[in-house]
Amino acid sequence: MENVCNINGSLVPEAEATVSVLDRGFLFGDSVYEVVRTVDGVPFAWPEHWQRLHLSAEGIALQLDLDEATVARRVAETMAAAGDGEHYVRVIVTRGTGSAPNIDLDYAPGPPTWVVMVRPAPQVAGRPAKVALVPRLRNDRRALDPAAKSGNYLNNVLGLAEAKQRGATDCIMLNRDGSLTEASTSNLFVRLDGTWCTPPLQAGILAGITRGLLLQWLTEAGTPVAERDLTADDLRRADEMFLSSTLRNVGPVTHLDDRELCGPEGGPSTRELMALFDERFARRMAELDAPRWRALQNG
Ligand code: PDD
Repeated sequence: MENVCNINGSLVPEAEATVSVLDRGFLFGDSVYEVVRTVDGVPFAWPEHWQRLHLSAEGIALQLDLDEATVARRVAETMAAAGDGEHYVRVIVTRGTGSAPNIDLDYAPGPPTWVVMVRPAPQVAGRPAKVALVPRLRNDRRALDPAAKSGNYLNNVLGLAEAKQRGATDCIMLNRDGSLTEASTSNLFVRLDGTWCTPPLQAGILAGITRGLLLQWLTEAGTPVAERDLTADDLRRADEMFLSSTLRNVGPVTHLDDRELCGPEGGPSTRELMALFDERFARRMAELDAPRWRALQNG
């Protein structure tokens, strides 16, 4: 399989793919994006990712100018050009160069730049993490709301680097009120007194698609789960925790700072939850995602 891009409708090998240096995505991280992963060549949870792309665009006042079927077809063409195998798909929309390209913060609205990147899907489902609670705070909702998946990830880049310096593989960031938020590219769940708890959207996090599905699936299964404001002390007294994301699905947290919590397979409640996740994931793919994706392709 090859790494292939689709830039504004044209297919090009990733190594030759370019955008203008005056593109605001390059200059300012003035863009939004989604990451989806395929199973048997079908993107998982495409409807939720498409909806979130719109919410993110709204969050940065960016007008999307393509419809779902057009973008889904571009994704399918790019995957076909990349070849067989499971794909990592990144859809990026930047504010473009503006209609009068310049290097200033101010801009004259123009057409967005649409980029689809397709690569082999990394094999990281279930990958365990060692997390460090880092001093860097997550962006404040009033400054740049983490609910918008913008291309400006410097906050997370720096948080992750701080965690790596401490020998961890990922960071957990607090907000300015001292509440837990999330990891660099994953949401956080901690087990407290028999309940899976995850920070609420008001804490300033991305509304993860995997997080949303977990809240639904755990509730349906009768497993206690709650969106709850959590502190660093809650994190320290939790007996199990995991990270969730499109690429990772559910990944056990084996270490918090210097404390070992469990082996790479996760604690007993995490393992139970991972089995539930896999079962519901496969069912949803067969019943919803596969037929819907085919229907989108057939227009
Ligand atoms: N990241 N929080 C942040 C900051 C993220 O970037 C992501 C996803 C998540 C999990 O969201 P979801 O379950 O919808 O993937 C939480 C993707 C995978 C990325 O940027 O690569």
